[in-house]
Amino acid sequence: ACFSTSTAMLKDIKNVTIIGAGLMGSGIVQVAAQAGCKVTMVDTSDAALANGEKIINKSLARVARKKFADDEQQQKAFVDNVFANIAVSTDANSAVSQADLVVEAIVENLDVKKSLFAALDKAAPKDAIFCSNTSSLPITDIAQATPVDRQARFAGLHFFNPVPAMKLVEVVRTDAVSDDVFQDLYDFSKKVGKTPVSCKDTPGFIVNRLLVPYMFEAFRLLDRGDASVQDIDTAMKLGAGMPMGPFELADFVGLDTMKFINDGWAQGGKIEPALVQASKALDELVQQGHLGRKSGKGFYDYS
Ligand code: CAA
Ligand code: NAD
Repeated sequence: ACFSTSTAMLKDIKNVTIIGAGLMGSGIVQVAAQAGCKVTMVDTSDAALANGEKIINKSLARVARKKFADDEQQQKAFVDNVFANIAVSTDANSAVSQADLVVEAIVENLDVKKSLFAALDKAAPKDAIFCSNTSSLPITDIAQATPVDRQARFAGLHFFNPVPAMKLVEVVRTDAVSDDVFQDLYDFSKKVGKTPVSCKDTPGFIVNRLLVPYMFEAFRLLDRGDASVQDIDTAMKLGAGMPMGPFELADFVGLDTMKFINDGWAQGGKIEPALVQASKALDELVQQGHLGRKSGKGFYDYS
């Protein structure tokens, strides 16, 4: 089982419900299931759940090959054991009825997230912890959809893409969240193999506050015709040691998500306006439905 390590006051997080079976939700499901938690993965359609299962299957096969290089039987047993910890559902309310922890990883839209959490609050146990994996929205604003008692059990739990490989989790501390809940989330992050850091509920927390403005400056460099997509990516990989250039990374994150983040910040008014100026190249791709790797085309073609 997935035991919490410390005192009786802290919560033993065993049953985890993840809402959203996309890039991030599927990854969070995987690492929690690998850590021995009983996980329910929720999305709005069977097709979206199948997509999540496909992502998990591919990633687990990769982990298994690394763990048990020469033994296909052990590889299969490993994958089967992890999948035995995963249930799927299209009914979010019933899926949270036994949850110790709920992590939301749905579309980056404040109103959609708020209406989800308002419903989940009524369906989940009173002491369940609620988290959002939002990239850019204030946790405090999302938590407003729930009563004060739940706000004390509501935090940000921000994983990074690809979840199975990226070792960081930002645990976002609001003014309302209790110390116990914060500690539980720190422990849970370690349990799923990550290194947690603590941050305040400010736009983009730590990583995205630094990473996203850099990426948008790259898009605007392209808009101005100063350099090509390929040359900017090559420059940042070979000149600054980035594992991916900004365009490769944007395609990896999802161009819709990149745009939601920037538009939200531009409207929110808390970030220097020059940093959140829209990019023509990005807007055009999103308008055409080119959302990066997940749709087969973005700044690059993956078909
Ligand atoms: N599942 C399981 N394991 C995976 C994996 C996956 N999907 N993808 C990579 N890995 C593992 C590999 O097995 C490998 O593990 P070991 O080092 O233990 O052997 C390791 O990750 C590196 O992978 P590779 O050597 O195969 O490939 P790579 O060197 O090209 O690295 C990468 C791939 C880790 C994705 C690397 O390109 C990278 O770090 N890219 C940048 C990713 C990044 O910046 N993410 C943050 C995006 S921003 C965000 O997430 C926040 C937000 O809110 C938008
Ligand atoms: P995605 O587009 O890959 O997946 C989102 C999933 O949520 C889809 O399967 C969709 O069907 C589902 N969904 C939408 N509304 C729903 C609802 N009401 N109930 C249940 N499911 C619903 O998106 P993603 O990249 O996984 O991003 C999810 C969240 O994680 C966003 O808040 C995003 O900002 C954040 N995030 C993304 C990244 C990244 O690199 N992509 C990194 C960290 C955090």
